[in-house]
Amino acid sequence: MALWSGRFSSDPDEVVAALSESISFDQRLYAHDIAGSVAHVKMLAATGIVPMADAESIVAELLQIRAQIDAGDFEFDPALEDIHMNIESRLIERLGDSGAHIHAGRSRNDQVATDIRLYLRDEINDISSRVRDLQKALVELGSANDSAILPGLTHLQNAQPVLFAHHLLAYVEMLERDHSRLHDCRVRLNELPLGAGALAGSTLPLDRQQVADELGFDRVMRNSMDAVASRDFAIELGADLAILMSHLSRLSEDVILWASQACGYIELDDAFCTGSSLMPQKKNPDIAELTRGKAARVSGVLVSLLTLMKGLPLCYNRDMQEDKEPLFDAIDTVKLVLTAFAPMMRSATVKPEKMAAAAADPGLMATDLAEWLVGQGMPFRTAHHRVGQYVAWCRDNGVGLDTASLEQMRETIPEAQAACLELFTAARSVESRDTIGGTAPAQVHGQLAFWRKELESDGPV
Ligand code: ARG
Repeated sequence: MALWSGRFSSDPDEVVAALSESISFDQRLYAHDIAGSVAHVKMLAATGIVPMADAESIVAELLQIRAQIDAGDFEFDPALEDIHMNIESRLIERLGDSGAHIHAGRSRNDQVATDIRLYLRDEINDISSRVRDLQKALVELGSANDSAILPGLTHLQNAQPVLFAHHLLAYVEMLERDHSRLHDCRVRLNELPLGAGALAGSTLPLDRQQVADELGFDRVMRNSMDAVASRDFAIELGADLAILMSHLSRLSEDVILWASQACGYIELDDAFCTGSSLMPQKKNPDIAELTRGKAARVSGVLVSLLTLMKGLPLCYNRDMQEDKEPLFDAIDTVKLVLTAFAPMMRSATVKPEKMAAAAADPGLMATDLAEWLVGQGMPFRTAHHRVGQYVAWCRDNGVGLDTASLEQMRETIPEAQAACLELFTAARSVESRDTIGGTAPAQVHGQLAFWRKELESDGPV
């Protein structure tokens, strides 16, 4: 019989029970549910709402239940709907009336909101340290290949030469913002809903601050209706994870390109690739492809959560039970992807000679020539035009931009001097982009050193 069955004359229909149950997925909240109940009952005893002896046996029993669930010795009953009822029913089964004290001053509405916040705090810590590990892997790969130069792209067209490490560090920066977003989300969600009751607070003299302190929440939520009605913290995390996955998806896209025969800039370790069932020669970058695919799934979670919440009047509505599966799925997906991605990057073999061959195309240095002319006082637009004409002249006359003579160059750029013919190496091009944030080795090596130091101390979020 359900714990709420007092005013009902029959048990729920079977299909209703199937639709109603959440124990199949919310059982993962058990440790956090028990932590919340322990803090709650200690407070009930401290405030004299429940006799100390009952509270003590409740705490002991809750810890026992936790140990049983840890050990896989606890049988969850779908008829008891959710994790809260499964644990409370077991408590009452074991302790009788003593156990029945636990639910004083709370409802499942503030209970579940508390559980999710506690659970997400831990998951955010976990994901954050995995993000850090991927950052470290990228910095290591960049440091080990700190002179490799490849063509940087715009519109997927070779554009200008850049250091490979510079490219990797762009992702380190994105991941740093992901890390910081996760931190912000954790700060915002770290407040206590428990004590809000079903929606309006309690007639009992609850000490909510004590519970907040015991559970490590930074503050008690000010508004009981907000406490049970809000899931914007879950939406926020969904957004943070969707953005993180979009970054991993873009990195995957780069990795797939780099590992393609068309580029050949890197080779992924066999452990992170799969073969073809038909073509014996194939080695496919499936982990990167799956990461790109799973980014779609996590974007879907964000949309689900936004859609779930947008039409709900205050306060709790049962629809909100549907927040968990998408959220859990996003968390599991992100953790899995990050766990595979860092070692995949660490074990990649870089082919600097392949990168160098592609970056040697003198066309990539056309901007360098235009900027050289600007350095001589020519307006940029004029310089851009002259160099454009030079490119066309070389194409029409079958001459390389870097092999034309000075006389030939002067056909279209009368201001050209001998130094212009020296501009066409990738190494020189990269070295001369020495502005803050530019791709010059002086800049990039400084950034590598900065990140190595920054990532050394993997402090808590
Ligand atoms: N399993 C429910 C959920 O996840 C717990 C809260 C149920 N509250 C209620 N009044 N039925 O949202």
